[in-house]
Amino acid sequence: MRHSISDTLQLIADRRSIPPEKFSGRRVHKEIVEQVLHFARWAPNHGLTQPWRFRVFMDDAAKRLMVDLSDAYRAHAGASAIEAKVDKIRNRGERCNAIVALGLDHDEEGRFPLWEDQAAMAAAVQNMHLICTAHGIGGYWSTPGFLSNSAARQAIGYADDILSMGLFYIGYPEGEWPRRGHRKPLEYVADWITD
Ligand SMILES: Cc1cc2nc3c(=O)[nH]c(=O)nc-3n(C[C@H](O)[C@H](O)[C@H](O)COP(=O)(O)O)c2cc1C
Repeated sequence: MRHSISDTLQLIADRRSIPPEKFSGRRVHKEIVEQVLHFARWAPNHGLTQPWRFRVFMDDAAKRLMVDLSDAYRAHAGASAIEAKVDKIRNRGERCNAIVALGLDHDEEGRFPLWEDQAAMAAAVQNMHLICTAHGIGGYWSTPGFLSNSAARQAIGYADDILSMGLFYIGYPEGEWPRRGHRKPLEYVADWITD
């Protein structure tokens, strides 16, 4: 055995989406975020396209980003903007000092379809999430619709050809680690063909 099976299985099952509202406010150090992103890059990706482009917002930049994104949400929602949601977005920058914007550099003229690069990004995010879990740090992948509007893209600083695949929030959870989640039983999702 090359790795502890029991540790690996535990790590996978222990991973939970923990929203920034449940973060304690304890700072995550840059070295940890660097490690998380370093190993994100080892995700599988067809043709070694390595489509992930991360923009990492730490500390005051994270606060500023969320202020700008709350404005972007308000502009996007117009008359139907909900003030509580504006506050919620802004407050995330107060609770979370490490926010990774997940940009996808997909070559439309290239050999591989968009979905394969998106799948590669999802695998990279899973790597990130598992490393966070191993540190006892929460992660949260958030994909609100307004992130694709131009004010939000500008706040993040994406070049025109980068597709937005959401934000990944990183932070220590307040109190106990959340309990195990739920999944459909294996019988429901797997058919075995044996002869
Ligand atoms: C591609 C993707 C996008 C997601 N976007 C959101 C989101 O916008 N808001 C949200 O609350 N959760 C989002 N999630 C997290 C899921 O809600 C979460 O994974 C699910 O509830 C299962 O919980 P668990 O991750 O703790 O097992 C997203 C997950 C994935 C894979």
